[in-house]
Amino acid sequence: MTSALFEYKNITDPIHLATKVERAEEDYILVKPKSYENVPIENWIPPAYCYTKRFQSYEDNLFNFEVRKDDVWVSSFPKSGTTWCQEMVWLICHDLDFKAAKSEPLRTRFPFLEVSLIHDTLDELNSFERARNTPSPRFIKTHLPVSMLPKQYWEVLPKTVHIHRNVKSVAVSYFHHSKNIFYKGTKEEFIRSFMKDLQFYSPIHNHVTGYHKLTNCKNILYLKYEDMKSDLRGCVETVCRFFNRSYDDAALDLLCEHLSFDSMKQNLACNYENKDDHGWQSKHCDERFIRRGQIDSWNEELSKEMVEDLDRWTRNNVQQENLLNLFI
Ligand code: A3P
Repeated sequence: MTSALFEYKNITDPIHLATKVERAEEDYILVKPKSYENVPIENWIPPAYCYTKRFQSYEDNLFNFEVRKDDVWVSSFPKSGTTWCQEMVWLICHDLDFKAAKSEPLRTRFPFLEVSLIHDTLDELNSFERARNTPSPRFIKTHLPVSMLPKQYWEVLPKTVHIHRNVKSVAVSYFHHSKNIFYKGTKEEFIRSFMKDLQFYSPIHNHVTGYHKLTNCKNILYLKYEDMKSDLRGCVETVCRFFNRSYDDAALDLLCEHLSFDSMKQNLACNYENKDDHGWQSKHCDERFIRRGQIDSWNEELSKEMVEDLDRWTRNNVQQENLLNLFI
């Protein structure tokens, strides 16, 4: 099927088709935009991305979403430290108002633009309408790749922070996240299909390199999960400069403490454990959203063979050495 805006292709991979029901996977489809000349990347053809059939119901909402100059966006591939980055950005842009941050879930302070592509929202409004009704200045979370951002994004160029993470960490974290929500397959099965670009929002390599090819977009700040782990204070200061904000040392100490793994893990406003929040928490959940928060736990969680396969897959997909560093 195809429309004026997007091209849709069914998945043909025989293993996916034969086993998707036992893994409780939805009907994935591959989606490619028909027009992407507004994206400022030269000589480039975007790939198709993996979504579900829901995409078709929301393509107009997405493509024609109104973008505002004073929006602040955080973008990432799923499981790259998005929530951590959102909480940091939100506080830096709100005078470090910890009280306000703790009294309202991040989910409503920082709406997830396209979550309706993934599941129904419990509100009457779909996620695009909800974001549209949010008063300015809005804080918007997205996992969309550059080729799928709303048309107006490229005219308005709102300030955006993009975060990326080691692809092996993402693979493991994505498996646990999916298992908590719907996935019934094994870790090995999940990661094998991730390597075939058959998980929601795949392919990861093109998602991340797409953002990093936007070298002339001064509205985008790039962060790396591993840098936030090794030098949170340095990253916080970089983000403050990006948003023209300045805080004294004692205030920044408090922010770093608030953003520490142990503190965020207990923070009901952003750990998705508040039952009243009706957010991500699922009744099948047996693990926490803020789970391990480490740089190299993939070492313990993946077999040697899987590590080698993931590295080979990345090398095959990313030829440029400077881009390769984004993933390993
Ligand atoms: P793990 O599953 O490896 O623990 P996202 O928000 O993009 O879904 O990313 C979730 C990942 O970020 C999870 O990784 C989660 O534990 C980690 N994370 C969240 N808050 C963190 C923090 N304060 N410090 C370190 N990692 C954090």
